Amino acid sequence: MKKVRIAIIGVGGMGNTHARSMAEIERADLTAVCDIDPRTADTRAREHGCKGFYSAKDLLASRVANAVLIATPHYAHTTIGIQALKAGMHVLVEKPISAHKADCKRLIAAHANKRLVFAAMFNQRTDPHYKKIKQLVDSGELGELTRVSWIISDWFRTEAYYASGGWRATWKGEGGGVLLNQCPHNLDLLQWICGMPGSVRAFCGIGKHHAIEVEDEVTAYLEYPNGATGVLVTSTGEAPGTNRLEICGEMGKIVLEHGKLTFDRNEIGQKEFCKTSTERFARPGVHSDTISVEGTGGQHLEIIRNFVDAILDRTPLIAPAAEGIHSVELANAMLYSSMIGAPVRLPLNAANFRRLLQRLIRESTFEKKTVRKASADDIAKSF
Ligand SMILES: NC(=O)c1ccc[n+]([C@@H]2O[C@H](COP(=O)([O-])OP(=O)(O)OC[C@H]3O[C@@H](n4cnc5c(N)ncnc54)[C@H](O)[C@@H]3O)[C@@H](O)[C@H]2O)c1
Repeated sequence: MKKVRIAIIGVGGMGNTHARSMAEIERADLTAVCDIDPRTADTRAREHGCKGFYSAKDLLASRVANAVLIATPHYAHTTIGIQALKAGMHVLVEKPISAHKADCKRLIAAHANKRLVFAAMFNQRTDPHYKKIKQLVDSGELGELTRVSWIISDWFRTEAYYASGGWRATWKGEGGGVLLNQCPHNLDLLQWICGMPGSVRAFCGIGKHHAIEVEDEVTAYLEYPNGATGVLVTSTGEAPGTNRLEICGEMGKIVLEHGKLTFDRNEIGQKEFCKTSTERFARPGVHSDTISVEGTGGQHLEIIRNFVDAILDRTPLIAPAAEGIHSVELANAMLYSSMIGAPVRLPLNAANFRRLLQRLIRESTFEKKTVRKASADDIAKSF
């Protein structure tokens, strides 16, 4: 059987979870792991019975793999991703594909050889709830979009989480907070389902709930080219938090909350009814459907399997890496808007945002008090 030889670069919490799951992928062999922390690299190599490397450069030169999965902190997604693509490797990169839009552009530009598969770990695209919502929007069943609201404030994180890695929640190490670490999934789904807004105004709480220098609470207002509006609220400091996605269109309203997907369908489009009804307080008739959706999809494993299938069989990707620029652009635009105190028109000026980020890094006086090694917590709790 033809197999893909995969190496995982960055085998901390997420990378090691991927390494463990590789045994379930029939047509792939985990041939190497790589981590700049030699102890981590050695331990993981022993555990998984593969070669261990301390630098991506040495790994790429060794040719023990023809594909890499990058699960390092965010800035290295760009540098290692470019090196790997230039070395002729297929690449699966963790979210976010880069820390800022200018880096996304550099990374995507390095994918010149289109025979190489370049995918991103947007595992939530495999969730049948979101797939169904996308289908209802794409098919036109919901009609023209008028409003979207996503309250996704159940990304609660403790101080111990932020202390578990020196790179976490710093401008220099991570490039952002909740928008860049937890929310890339939601921002990706939002643009996947509703497209990109034309402008963003956001308010970010910087270290509002934790001793960190980046944003841990965000309220954003979005305007779409057709006049539809959106609101995104997120936080890592709210418990129990909410995860409610509501999308309204001419033909009704879709709501996903507590795993329950409902579609309230208007019998007549709202605009048409508004214009044609002769009654003062009438409203369109509504049929309420609860849409039965089972499970949460194959998640990370499905994305890795799809990556392997794309390499061996040219199967279309669930999440091409090039699409990862949109969630980064949204995250950057929200932070930028908050910092300048004004709406930001999209496409975002990538150079302006990079300058802002560089200034934040330069002027940072923040020092992380405790940097502990991550405990053996089950990382699956974080998804
Ligand atoms: N898709 C998901 O559901 C999901 C969940 C959690 C984390 N992630 C992503 O996975 C990535 C890693 O997050 P984590 O929580 O595992 O972090 P982590 O700190 O636990 O692990 C990162 C590892 O990368 C290593 N590393 C750092 N720089 C490196 C380099 N240049 N070369 C090789 N190794 C290097 C570190 O030593 C560490 O072992 C991030 O991009 C994060 O956003 C994704």
